[in-house]
Amino acid sequence: MLKRPRLRFVEVGPRDGLQNEALAIPLEDKLAFVQALAETGVGEVEAGAFVSPAAVPQMADSEMLFRRLWRKTGVVYSALVPNEKGLDRALECKVQKIAVFTAASETFNRRNINASIAESLERFRPVAARAKAAGLPVRGYVSTAFHCPYDGPVAPAAAVGVCRDLLALGVDELSVGDTIGRAAPREVRALLAELLKTVPVDKVFLHFHDTYGMAVANALTAWSEFGVSGFDASAGGLGGCPYAPGAGGNAATEDLAFAFAAEGGETGLDLDKVRAAALALEPRLGHPIGSKLCRVRPGRTVAER
Ligand code: HMG
Ligand code: MG
Repeated sequence: MLKRPRLRFVEVGPRDGLQNEALAIPLEDKLAFVQALAETGVGEVEAGAFVSPAAVPQMADSEMLFRRLWRKTGVVYSALVPNEKGLDRALECKVQKIAVFTAASETFNRRNINASIAESLERFRPVAARAKAAGLPVRGYVSTAFHCPYDGPVAPAAAVGVCRDLLALGVDELSVGDTIGRAAPREVRALLAELLKTVPVDKVFLHFHDTYGMAVANALTAWSEFGVSGFDASAGGLGGCPYAPGAGGNAATEDLAFAFAAEGGETGLDLDKVRAAALALEPRLGHPIGSKLCRVRPGRTVAER
């Protein structure tokens, strides 16, 4: 049987989770959210995005957030960077790791970052080189790796091609995204079968949105059948992309970690702390947190359920 490795989570709640929220979240609450998440046992928190504030107003305070953050030893605080201007901003406030982001479908990429896929890769070349020179690890996101909200289904070969192009630019790891949460395990199998022919499995993270409730099934498939150990998730299941209409939240960190634990996986996460971090933010959101673990038998610890 395939070895099922220890799991590595990247907590994307403060970035993917909050970028799509309608209400302005006060900086103090964002700081408290990031700091609470850093205490959950996770190794990386994606805490902000140095994108155009006109494009994503919710991330406009990322500089202030990084400047004021109390950084816990052993936790990496990362951020999205779309171009050199974003990198300048990130370096100025001492971000520890950056993520560039492109897509496997042209229309989504144009709407999201106003570039073709090829143009975006050219844009990332100096970003990756300068980040490396500054000693920063670089992640490369590939959105719409399964389905595009505008172009429809995406062929595995298209997503794999962009993954390989990003690795050729020097990114240290990939995050392969089901941006609109439309993929099913059979599509995950098809993509991983192709991708892992040439890309080492430990460079691969998967980023599932949970629009149709498939994220847990997709993640368990990737882990148990292909040995993928890296997953992005968002506390409370918050999230969505302003340029991906209809996209639901990310896989909820606590639900995904619960599922892995139930299947014998080790995540190192304290699920009660993840739930508490999400629930503390709930009053600021103007809507309930939707994750299963935040709703099933509230007031009980995970162990008491
Ligand atoms: P553009 O309009 O083509 O950029 O936007 P530009 O270079 O022509 O500049 C236009 C203006 O923006 C200029 O200002 C620039 O200075 C400014 P003006 O002269 O007009 O005053 N600008 C910036 N300001 C601050 N920081 C910057 C920056 N760059 C330019 N870095 C751009 C191109 C990429 C900037 C824009 O389209 C953008 O910011 N897009 C971000 C979209 C985004 O954040 N989407 C959500 C994140 S991706 C996601 O959620 C998917 C993911 O979760 C994975 C998955 O689920 O699949 C990662
Ligand atoms: Mg996302």
